[in-house]
Amino acid sequence: MSQRTCLSVILAAGEGTRMKSAMPKVLHPIAGLPMVAHVVRAAEAAGSGDLALVIGHGADEMRKATQKFAPKAESFVQDKQLGTAHAVLAARGAVSKGYDDVLAMFGDTPLIDPEVLTAARRKLAEGAAVVVVGFRTSNPSGYGRLIEKGGKLVAIREEKDCTDEEKKITFCNGGLMAVAGKHALQLLDQVGNNNAKGEYYLTDIVEIAGGQDLDVVAVEAGFENVLGINNRAELAVAEGIWQTRRRREAMLSGVTLIAPETVFFSYDTEIGADTVVEPNVWFGPGVKIATGAKIHAFSHIEGATIASNCDVGPYARLRPGADLKQKAKVGNFCEVKQATIEEGAKVNHLSYIGDARVGAGANIGAGTITCNYDGYSKFFTDIGEGAFIGSNSSLVAPVTVGKGGYVASGSVITESVPDDALAFGRARQRTLPGKGKELRERFASAAAARKKS
Ligand code: UD1
Ligand code: MG
Repeated sequence: MSQRTCLSVILAAGEGTRMKSAMPKVLHPIAGLPMVAHVVRAAEAAGSGDLALVIGHGADEMRKATQKFAPKAESFVQDKQLGTAHAVLAARGAVSKGYDDVLAMFGDTPLIDPEVLTAARRKLAEGAAVVVVGFRTSNPSGYGRLIEKGGKLVAIREEKDCTDEEKKITFCNGGLMAVAGKHALQLLDQVGNNNAKGEYYLTDIVEIAGGQDLDVVAVEAGFENVLGINNRAELAVAEGIWQTRRRREAMLSGVTLIAPETVFFSYDTEIGADTVVEPNVWFGPGVKIATGAKIHAFSHIEGATIASNCDVGPYARLRPGADLKQKAKVGNFCEVKQATIEEGAKVNHLSYIGDARVGAGANIGAGTITCNYDGYSKFFTDIGEGAFIGSNSSLVAPVTVGKGGYVASGSVITESVPDDALAFGRARQRTLPGKGKELRERFASAAAARKKS
């Protein structure tokens, strides 16, 4: 089948009013990726080399977003949304190039499994002209019904056009169709709009193809594959299903999730075997974790690279550009941004490390802050191998602490510290014997005098 050419036409022109959003519906993310991009990925995974995106509402925003998730896709504008067949025909310029297979997909159906697309394409390869992806449901209301006669699919009837008898059918149209490229345009061109909604229905090509003695078949898929998103409640349902799938995949690949239902992955999270993830961990986009890491509870991680056997959290925040080398530790209430924590270095408590490098084996004391920003620009802090930064120090960037450098706790370091030097950046302590007691007595009698008056 791989030698068969394939075009996917992804319909995304609808307004999506029920999302109640300024953003086009299909750009709402699932696992951090616009839902339409999930559809694009599925199409690509099923071997669809070319993509046509049919846009309408929010066309400018859609074009901009498409540059990111599908730079090779060709966009076609459907000015008026006159129905799904009309929408596919908006991409006539692409369909007419001539493909073996044409997949018509919906941009708001993000959980489609590439396997289903592959199964549909296989039917085309076997000679079908139209392949419908159907699903069974006990609650078919709102879906087009698959009308079969003598075991053959003869039509799809939209709910509004169904007789009472037809409404009882529970085998429904998932929306997705595969059409033999050589028949696609002539079938679509014959679709009329003589129906309850006055729309050009893609589903009508089933009956039209049957009338030409072309082969029409249905493949059955699980409901999740065709779950369409219309509002934010359904968006959350889709997110839930996606997360459940991904958690299972992670566990089966050797990752321990102690409470899987509380761990949230991103579409691109990479996580190696023997990593243990404690409850309530969030992975934003761009996270790569090697093997054997420990991610403790309540950590929030995005854009970070974590090498093997690192220890993160609890309550750690790793932001984009955090790069933890082997056995590095970033402990509770620490934030790391755009910084490399070299092998075995420790940032264990209550620190902010931004725009920095922490050398191998260095120890960053509790409450250490890299002061990387002056309100206008960001500056770099370089901490050498084996350095020791005493607790509650501020490192005012740009600044360097040399290899083996030692910073006394409570320091404000504004000048670079050479290798193996000890730096104090704070006032020397004064101790006055007996002065504490004297002070207490003075304050007590002053308070008593105030009470009397
Ligand atoms: C469609 C199917 C129905 C199926 C259901 C599954 C048709 C006629 N009906 O109905 O059989 O059971 O999906 O969810 O195909 N779109 C455009 N331009 C248009 C019209 C639609 O781009 O002119 C896009 C929409 O943005 C949406 C998709 O096509 O992403 C589906 O359209 P929608 O109106 O939701 O179709 P349904 O009525 O749900
Ligand atoms: Mg719909």
